[in-house]
Amino acid sequence: MLTQMTTNQKLIKWVKEVKELCTPDVIYWCDGSPQEFDRLAEEMVKNGTFIKLNENIKPNSYYCKSDPADVARVEDRTFICTENQEDTGPTNNWVHPKEMKEKMISLFRGCMKGRTMYVIPFSMGPLGSDIAHIGVEISDSPYVVCNMHIMTRVGKKVLEILGDGNFVPCLHSIGAPLQEGESDVPWPCNGENKYIVHFPAEKSIWSYGSGYGGNALLGKKCFALRIASHMAREEGWLADHMLILGITNPEGEKKYIAAAFPSACGKTNLAMLTPSLPGWKVETVGDDIAWMKFGKDGRLYAINPEAGFFGVAPGTSMETNPNAILSLQANSIFTNVALTPDGDVWWEGLTNEKPEKLTDWRGNEWTFESKTPAAHPNSRFTTPANQCPVIDPKWEDPEGVPISAILFGGRRATSIPLVFEAFDWHNGVFLGSIVSSEQTAAAEGKIGNVRRDPFAMLPFCGYNMADYFDHWLSFMHRTEIEKLPKFFSVNWFRKDEKGKFIWPGFGDNIRVLKWIFERIDGEDLAIETPIGYLPSDGAIDISGLEISETQLKAILNVDKDGWLTDTKEIREFYGQFGERLPKELIDELNDLEKRLNNY
Ligand code: OXD
Ligand code: MN
Repeated sequence: MLTQMTTNQKLIKWVKEVKELCTPDVIYWCDGSPQEFDRLAEEMVKNGTFIKLNENIKPNSYYCKSDPADVARVEDRTFICTENQEDTGPTNNWVHPKEMKEKMISLFRGCMKGRTMYVIPFSMGPLGSDIAHIGVEISDSPYVVCNMHIMTRVGKKVLEILGDGNFVPCLHSIGAPLQEGESDVPWPCNGENKYIVHFPAEKSIWSYGSGYGGNALLGKKCFALRIASHMAREEGWLADHMLILGITNPEGEKKYIAAAFPSACGKTNLAMLTPSLPGWKVETVGDDIAWMKFGKDGRLYAINPEAGFFGVAPGTSMETNPNAILSLQANSIFTNVALTPDGDVWWEGLTNEKPEKLTDWRGNEWTFESKTPAAHPNSRFTTPANQCPVIDPKWEDPEGVPISAILFGGRRATSIPLVFEAFDWHNGVFLGSIVSSEQTAAAEGKIGNVRRDPFAMLPFCGYNMADYFDHWLSFMHRTEIEKLPKFFSVNWFRKDEKGKFIWPGFGDNIRVLKWIFERIDGEDLAIETPIGYLPSDGAIDISGLEISETQLKAILNVDKDGWLTDTKEIREFYGQFGERLPKELIDELNDLEKRLNNY
């Protein structure tokens, strides 16, 4: 119990109000210690929420199955509640704050009965960094506490740094009160009544009904993206859905790059890339979120506000991402993967051969002949970032790391080249605004439905997306232009007529990063085209690769018809923002169309 550890009146008052509203049996202030983690994990083992994994294989690690009705973020149950609907914009769900607050209060009344209410003070970002911010999550889920221990910096020190300062209140309940004598289930939740609610004016979060991932670990998508994007707009910085990596060339020069990709496009893989080119090195600062603020020198500096990785397990292997696999060997929580008979975990893609026998994510017996997946497609590992073998030495630097380039990517089988560079800042923001990705459910080889996901922020932007574009555009006037990062578009996912990926991807993406590195230094390795600067002949290092010059040309061309079709779709997409869309972006679109027509 840490009540006496804070004199913060706002916090003391809020905890008291929540206690009166939610009527828990016990209030517990989290100190963030390893002993606290162990104690809660042990309690969860006793009540069946956790299974302890084999200590000889995965020390201090736990397996957990969620309720099948609670397996992913719920975008249709996610709300941004601003006074005026226009401030939320056409890409978010909106309810008036007064109406929503009443609804939330009725749901939260008595919702923690029979349970413990955990008060979790946490820092998003290195403790004490000027770029970091503090939140306090109140939750009735010990699973949330243990995950927050890994994903954020929790406990006493946070309260010391908070002092009498401000914090983001994040209220969470699984929405499953226990009546007198009622026994609990391993994964209590309220499948029918999920609400993930943001009140930007008061910068608070109320989440009800779900215990899973981004719905419940409120520091991540709710705070670090939706609420932080608001704060960033007000205060002149950026909160974005981007990985951050450091790249060092054989001569020992280092640059940092941030990159935005929609979910399921390999962000964690890129952040931890093992280069196939000799002498090059990639190090990880973060795999999901970047907060960027100006440093004293006028450059943009980024921090990773998180302290762990909440990565999608299926498809992660020693071949696709050895550094992720090496990271998750201990002190980790695995949710909705499959369990092996010897107390280890397994998921599709982990090994080339399927194991003979497993317990699947629903708790059923599974054999290699089973038709259903053993692990849920959105099953996750929660792993401390400092266990990553290639974690960047500056990943916790309170100053952040200086960003030299920003990449936008998506999953596109056609049209979008392997890589190209924007003409300038406006053009780069335009490229961010048109990020698109094929639905991953699209049939192999067929051109899938393209979803526009600007800056990969569609589900995470906490205000009108048109104003968000405007915020990005404004950075051109906030510093000297040459101090700003350069923008690039990348696409690892081009396919041939047979539906086969043309570019090998993974560790070979270093070849594209190398070109980007050299372009940041202004090397003359590009030709001007209607869409941007494309690599000139021979500028991409394909030494030792089994890709022909013809294939490479095919993924580095300007597909005039494809782009013209895209411009029509972009115009339609832009249409929903009406007058609010910055004129600069319409100009960019018109100019692109003109250049293509003259090409
Ligand atoms: C994530 C996501 O979980 O983007 O990071 O969905
Ligand atoms: Mn993400």
